[in-house]
Amino acid sequence: MVKIAPSILSADFLNLQKEIEAVQKAGADILHLDVMDGHFVPNLTFGMPIIKQIKEIAAIPLDVHLMVSNPAEYLELLGKWKIDYVSFHQEAENHLHRQIHVLKENSVKAGIALNPATPIETILPILPDLDFVLLMSVNPGFGGQGFLPLVYDKIKRLKEFAINLNPDLEIEVDGGVNKENTHDLQISGVDILVAGSYIFRSSNYSQQISSLR
Ligand code: DX5
Ligand code: ZN
Repeated sequence: MVKIAPSILSADFLNLQKEIEAVQKAGADILHLDVMDGHFVPNLTFGMPIIKQIKEIAAIPLDVHLMVSNPAEYLELLGKWKIDYVSFHQEAENHLHRQIHVLKENSVKAGIALNPATPIETILPILPDLDFVLLMSVNPGFGGQGFLPLVYDKIKRLKEFAINLNPDLEIEVDGGVNKENTHDLQISGVDILVAGSYIFRSSNYSQQISSLR
């Protein structure tokens, strides 16, 4: 069954603990944390001290999505804090293999994120080393953007490669996910759906999460 990962990017930051407790109660499987540095993407969010505090109160696994130019600087610390899933961008790191193994040595599920225009072929040589791939279905940087249907073909093709190279690979899709595209995304083979505005900009989190399943 597909896992639903609410992105706190669209939550009320002044009541973050309450928001996290509310999505947990509403049936969220994973909490998605978007780290933006104002350099790799044209926006700033939050960094390590806030992730550490969220880890202390969260009852479900954390998924840290690093949209930063220098991801290598944070991987060991995230491992030390026992973060469950961590992804960084193919476009931001020259030494994918090395950094993936830094995560794995720290027992973190290791993922590579791909922007909409980045082909999946760029990560095929290291597909066997990955726990998951995050396919962006918007250009990273902001919540509430329109879904890019080009991701369907990427999911299907990645799934085909994974059958031979890494059958346990999880495929995560992030950006513009809502009740209009959840069915087609699941048919295409997605394992984890990230949703920010669709969940947090509603008054009934439980109904939104159920509609995505
Ligand atoms: C975008 C972030 C997403 C974002 C998704 O750069 O990586 O995780 O929060 O938000 P929605 O679901 O509103 O597109
Ligand atoms: Zn994200």
